[in-house]
Amino acid sequence: MTLADTDFTFVTGMVRQRSSIDLQPGKEYLVESRLAPVARKFGDKDLTALVHRLRRNDREACDAVVDALTTNETSFFRDQHPFDAFSNLMLPELKRNGGPTVNVWSAASSSGQEAYSLALLLLDWLPMNPGKTARIHGTDISPTMVARATAGKFSQLEINRGMPVKYLVKYFDQVGRDWIVKPEVRALTSFRQGNLAMPPVGLPPIDIVFLRNVLIYFDLPTKRQVLANVRKALKPGGFLVLGGAESTLSLDGNFARVETEKVVIFRNGGGT
Ligand SMILES: C[S@@+](CC[C@H](N)C(=O)[O-])C[C@H]1O[C@@H](n2cnc3c(N)ncnc32)[C@H](O)[C@@H]1O
Repeated sequence: MTLADTDFTFVTGMVRQRSSIDLQPGKEYLVESRLAPVARKFGDKDLTALVHRLRRNDREACDAVVDALTTNETSFFRDQHPFDAFSNLMLPELKRNGGPTVNVWSAASSSGQEAYSLALLLLDWLPMNPGKTARIHGTDISPTMVARATAGKFSQLEINRGMPVKYLVKYFDQVGRDWIVKPEVRALTSFRQGNLAMPPVGLPPIDIVFLRNVLIYFDLPTKRQVLANVRKALKPGGFLVLGGAESTLSLDGNFARVETEKVVIFRNGGGT
């Protein structure tokens, strides 16, 4: 199924307006291949018919298209080093100087693997730190991903991508061919829909934010806006963890760079 140039411009404009995801010319194949199943779902014979539907402002179709154009690639303990820094650097710092509740934000949480990885590390840490509690707040723009993360149910293939056996046996129940997180893991987590380009709502002051592998989808002004929004939620001195290919450099001067052996993290300098 192919997309006319004017339809590509219309679709990418609509997606940018709703999600800030920046799809430049050159991404025609990606857009076409992601929209073909949406057209089939709505019974449209081709992408032109689907775009007519979008132009009529069919809410369900618009939501489905934005959903289809988000890239949800993720895995448990993705890249490992940020999770080591979480356990070895950030949590000890919060033990010394933090409040009674450690609030972690998994911003752009996709299907939940990042949030649940952090929850498992916290389940190791909390018993050694009596008096401390923790919450992990997952947000994502995609309602489908929020529903998947909330379900906490993963296929064997997803489990194979990064879940250590010691955590699998302790914290997951096998249901048919899938694995579901146990209640004590779920109890630490919650997931909600949220657009990072908008000021955050409903979050407590955050100690640590994992904002990984999502800035890459935004244009420059949006990257700056997202980092400013993150700072609104992050406590002064709070930690920011980005993806391996991402940095605050030349985007936001209010973050201080902290180089650890294997990973660079950032701390909120508290500017406005
Ligand atoms: C590639 S995944 C990254 C998942 C996880 N953070 C990781 O690193 O494994 C990017 C996620 O960002 C979400 N996303 C894209 N634009 C967003 C926006 N404006 N606000 C919130 N989430 C967004 C997508 O729905 C997708 O689930």
